[in-house]
Amino acid sequence: MKKPWAGRFQQKTSKVVESFTESISFDSRLWKYDIEGSIAHARMLGRQGIITKKESEKIIRGLGKIADEFGDGSFVFRDDLEDIHMNIEAALIQKIGDAGGKLHTARSRNDQVSLDFRLYLRAEAKEIISLLRKFQKTLLDIASRHITALMPGYTHLQRAQPVLLSHHLLAYAEMFQRDAERLCDTLKRINQLPLGSCALAGTTLPIDRAYVAKLLGFQGISRNSIDAVSDRDFAIEFLSDCAILIMHLSRLAEELVLWSTEEFRFIELPDAFTTGSSIMPQKKNPDVAELVRGKAGRVYGHLVSLLTVMKGLPLSYNRDMQEDKVPVFDTVDTVKSCLIVLDEMLPGVGFNTERMKATAGEAFSTATDIAEYLVRKGVPFRKAHEITGRLVLHCITEKKKLADLALEEMKAFSPLFTGNVFSFLQPAESIKNKKSSGSTSVAEVRKQIKRLRKVTGDR
Ligand code: ARG
Repeated sequence: MKKPWAGRFQQKTSKVVESFTESISFDSRLWKYDIEGSIAHARMLGRQGIITKKESEKIIRGLGKIADEFGDGSFVFRDDLEDIHMNIEAALIQKIGDAGGKLHTARSRNDQVSLDFRLYLRAEAKEIISLLRKFQKTLLDIASRHITALMPGYTHLQRAQPVLLSHHLLAYAEMFQRDAERLCDTLKRINQLPLGSCALAGTTLPIDRAYVAKLLGFQGISRNSIDAVSDRDFAIEFLSDCAILIMHLSRLAEELVLWSTEEFRFIELPDAFTTGSSIMPQKKNPDVAELVRGKAGRVYGHLVSLLTVMKGLPLSYNRDMQEDKVPVFDTVDTVKSCLIVLDEMLPGVGFNTERMKATAGEAFSTATDIAEYLVRKGVPFRKAHEITGRLVLHCITEKKKLADLALEEMKAFSPLFTGNVFSFLQPAESIKNKKSSGSTSVAEVRKQIKRLRKVTGDR
């Protein structure tokens, strides 16, 4: 079949060039958006009298038939037709004849590809937001079920202070909240119509861009045609959002790996979501969590890849920009699959709350509560910190826990200690006594759950 630009050429395109420059092997997934955009464009051309109403209707019907062929898998792709745009246009001309040749009036593949990519990203960003919502709900449900369960909270991966397991899980729900908000914000910039910018300079034909924007549900139209065909910020922004999102998933995955070790024994991963070893019969490995962690590397790579593609490009469109698709498509697939698999796995995770509770009280985890106990009795915090530190050192030398100390022994460090100090040594008391908003008390965690349920639209 002749190329649409064949008029100016005397030689046929080399086969090597065809296979080197093609994008149909990966941009075919844009078919639905390409057709949606073309239908809106054809409708506008007819309405403006640039083509006849009849031609416009014929084009729209033809595109509908092509959509059906994509739907039932009967569309015949042609590798010599480079990309999805040319494949669809050629199929249209073959179907309806000359009228099909009028579809590309006042349009270039440069604004067309940007349009398709924006329509695609708009749909996928919304899909990722709804997967995030679903995952947040799963986390909220698990947190609600374990609302009073204790665990050691960590800093530097050293046991620090007792916290609620629910509080720890909600930290992730907060991260995913920001991730969803970031994607919502990016959607505003994705949702601008580039079509009508044509190759780079606009057109002499009387098109109505606002009408096309309205048909396609865009919030506005791009204001500079050179910018519109050159801009991939929206895709880079989407990749940044996804890089941050998968960094959060990766941290959660890392905790699942860590917590399922014999050393921690905080959780039991469901058999259906773990794998065995080909040599060690006893092994049960957290491969799903490891792969989520590993896939973060791939998504970061895609962000850097597109930033690098764009960094040296002179205005306006350059063919380099075709390299935007693979990183974005793979990011969409990767992030969605990670969210889906973690959301399926998490409800099956068994929490060893007995062990978590037991370890929550070890390693002098309530020392800060003792220091604050002294503060309430008027001791300056720095002094209280020092007294408690010496008390801990005394326990370490005597191989005792804080709770093993006699009151007299404690009084030697400060006369302000009285019998009620012992209740403050219990991790459950430590939790109960937390007062600050956002802290690890049951009341505060309930507030967090309530707010998150509301902002995620769950209740
Ligand atoms: N396949 C191309 C891409 O993805 C479409 C735009 C081609 N434009 C051009 N002037 N060659 O970027």
